[in-house]
Amino acid sequence: MIKILTVIGARPQFIKAAAVSRAIMRQSGIYEVIVHTGQHFDENMSEVFFEQMQIPKPTHKLDIHSLPHGAMTGRMTEGIEKIILEEKPQYVMVYGDTNSTLAGALAASKLHIPVAHVEAGLRSFNMAMPEEINRILTDRISKLLFCPTPVAVNNLAREGFKNFACKVITTGDVMYDASLLFNEKALPPSGVDIPGQFALATVHRAENTNDPGRLADIMTALEYISDKLPVIFPVHPRTRKLIDQSGLSIKSDNLLMIDPVGYLEILYLLKHTSLVLTDSGGMQKEAYFFKKPCITLREETEWTELTAAGYNILAGSNPARIKKAFKAYNNKTIHFQEELYGKGNASDIIAEAFLKH
Ligand code: UD1
Ligand code: UDP
Repeated sequence: MIKILTVIGARPQFIKAAAVSRAIMRQSGIYEVIVHTGQHFDENMSEVFFEQMQIPKPTHKLDIHSLPHGAMTGRMTEGIEKIILEEKPQYVMVYGDTNSTLAGALAASKLHIPVAHVEAGLRSFNMAMPEEINRILTDRISKLLFCPTPVAVNNLAREGFKNFACKVITTGDVMYDASLLFNEKALPPSGVDIPGQFALATVHRAENTNDPGRLADIMTALEYISDKLPVIFPVHPRTRKLIDQSGLSIKSDNLLMIDPVGYLEILYLLKHTSLVLTDSGGMQKEAYFFKKPCITLREETEWTELTAAGYNILAGSNPARIKKAFKAYNNKTIHFQEELYGKGNASDIIAEAFLKH
């Protein structure tokens, strides 16, 4: 039996792992042991996903969070190293581009345990993003690189990955698998008076939440939009902190700022929204899965197939650009056609790859 040690710690990783863990359970010859680094720890940022998506309980919990990058990554690497020595897995699997991802990949590769990276090959080409550093380093020390899109495969080809001792595999996107698996179970968030029509917003990216000016600009734009179309805004704890610290006041009753919701609730909001405004990586794709236009509150995106197809507009944090994008979508019917993220079987392709390579 091949033993895979899976390292997860942040909200989007629980969602991705929910789909892949099911595929691993279906596949004979492999099994996984889960490490939760603790990077995300509030009930509505962690536990709720394990419950709603029946993710196997982590065998190891490191409880490392709310630290600067170096301290967080260092302490996680140290903790994961000990677990690898104890568990002796054949592979260490990591997801995406967070500090938990890099820590898992670093600890494993230094111990010569092959790293499997889910969501490999994504690039924003913005080295100021902590995620860009994490994903480039993780890709370089991975043995199995599971790419969600042809764009990701091309990025790796351009960086010379065919000369490295690794295998690049196109899989499709595991978040698409998750959305198909749980779509039917979507639930309205309790205690929220949901308007007939609304826009859905999320903001948490460092560039938007380290700078009170950028966040104030985004809030100004959301207030403007909420005058035309109510906005539901589940607020990430990082963003909530900045709003509280900087005393940003909300001037619109139609901007509904709520606590982060579980996966079944966000699916409900995605299904019923008219529009998504976000700086999240995952939500840009989910907008497309549910055939909703997306305004991305960043200057660049890793998911360039969405902007190329006209499903997503990059608007940064500037209120005038965000308003312009909003108006552009308001007058337009979009036909969502292409199958950009696979066939919903990315997780099975990943599980099978552990036996083939
Ligand atoms: C992290 C990832 C980012 C990912 C995001 C998903 C890195 C560098 N960043 O960003 O790539 O898109 O997760 O949401 O790994 N906090 C809480 N409760 C929680 C979680 C966070 O209060 O459950 C607060 C803490 O004060 C913490 C801050 O949010 O210091 C930031 O959390 P952190 O995990 O460092 O970064 P994220 O912005 O969540
Ligand atoms: N999400 C959620 N509840 C929320 C907001 C987001 O379940 O209140 C989900 C969202 O649908 C997506 C994932 O969390 O599946 C994205 O995580 P996040 O935006 O935190 O990180 P990113 O994708 O940017 O790394």
